[in-house]
Amino acid sequence: MQLRLIFAACLALASTPGCAADSLAETFGSIVATNGTIHLPPAVRSRWQHLGSWLVADPNAPGHGFHDVYTQPDAAAYYRRHGRFPDGAMLVKQISAIRHAQLTTGAADYAGDAKVWFVMVKDAIGRFAGHRDWGDGWGWALFEAKNPQANVSQGYVAACRNCHLPAQSSDRVFVQGYPGLHAE
Ligand code: HEC
Repeated sequence: MQLRLIFAACLALASTPGCAADSLAETFGSIVATNGTIHLPPAVRSRWQHLGSWLVADPNAPGHGFHDVYTQPDAAAYYRRHGRFPDGAMLVKQISAIRHAQLTTGAADYAGDAKVWFVMVKDAIGRFAGHRDWGDGWGWALFEAKNPQANVSQGYVAACRNCHLPAQSSDRVFVQGYPGLHAE
């Protein structure tokens, strides 16, 4: 209940200082409950920095869709300075349906309605050892548009770990796709 109130306040007053997950210090306590349960941060599209996009066009691919990745502005600024994600950084990958249109630019693909959100939460001190949604320095969660309140992931090892191994050397994040992590 308390979480819902914080979310509602943040949606109404997006620039409120200390608003849920606007600052890194707020991650643990508002988005992540004390028992390690991860919630979907509210309104990331309008409040957070867009890092980059992936287009998985093959309809038979597991990740078919338009992927947009966001993080807190503070987390992106920290990464640009130090080359790593700080404690409390969150990465949200929103997957949307792919729309097509013949425009004056040519045949264009663009993002339609959001369908799912993949979430990673940086935990630099190992807060939730043994919790199925936490491992290798991150919390891992999955939310669907039909019920964004519920994490439907089967747990980090079962649902996320193997696919993120190719990005092991960059803290399990596919940083090559995120121009927003680099100074212009
Ligand atoms: C089928 C393989 C696969 C699975 C399963 C998978 N991921 Fe990913 N994930 C990727 C790839 C590849 C990317 C980057 C490229 C893309 O999105 O197409 C990515 C990107 C992400 C991103 C954006 C930041 C980054 O690391 O680049 C988040 C957040 C994320 N995944 C979270 C998760 C979570 C949480 C799970 C488990 C619930 C999960 N992923 C399961 C392959 C996977």
